[in-house]
Amino acid sequence: MGVLIFLFVILTVIIIVNVLAGSLLVGLVQTGGVPFVSTPKQDFDAILQAAEIRPGEKIYDLGCGKGNLLIRAVKKYGAQAVGYELALWPYVWARWKILLSGAKMEIHLADFFKADISQADVVFCYLMPHIVNKLRDKLKKELKPGSRVVCYAFKFRDWLPTREVITNDDNEELGKIFVYKI
Ligand SMILES: C[S@@+](CC[C@H](N)C(=O)[O-])C[C@H]1O[C@@H](n2cnc3c(N)ncnc32)[C@H](O)[C@@H]1O
Repeated sequence: MGVLIFLFVILTVIIIVNVLAGSLLVGLVQTGGVPFVSTPKQDFDAILQAAEIRPGEKIYDLGCGKGNLLIRAVKKYGAQAVGYELALWPYVWARWKILLSGAKMEIHLADFFKADISQADVVFCYLMPHIVNKLRDKLKKELKPGSRVVCYAFKFRDWLPTREVITNDDNEELGKIFVYKI
């Protein structure tokens, strides 16, 4: 009996690990090679302050992962938040975290390239360089004047940031915040 329980536990763990790894792999393919990596929590305030987010303003996280930055924006800064996430596992995780936090926000399991972002005051993106640059035209076309785009780690080609904040000098990418005003 003990051996059976042991085998059952091992089998369950193997299945869970495979499902998680599989869904991350599928997510990677769906997103054109953008991995699910979270923004370090210690940079959340620097990002939201660089964005000059005000209570009631709408922040969109394009590729919101676990949704942690949006939860902070809602809870600490009184913002309204909208997240888009294409990969299933981070999306489910975000839903769970939102439920636990009690933050009121929207999150969509959808491709942000197909999203209507015209209501955003702030757009946040932590993506790969090739996707960030693909996104630039959509941002410039759809966002209203006065809105801000905040990129973490990677900046746009041929678009000068209005502000740069560096929280970590020791790393090439992490701790680099670029703000663009529309
Ligand atoms: C580097 S992670 C950043 C997660 C989160 N924004 C954060 O800062 O913690 C990028 C996320 O974007 C998602 N993503 C990439 N392309 C996407 C697309 N076209 N539509 C929706 N989500 C996308 C990926 O699945 C991944 O979870």
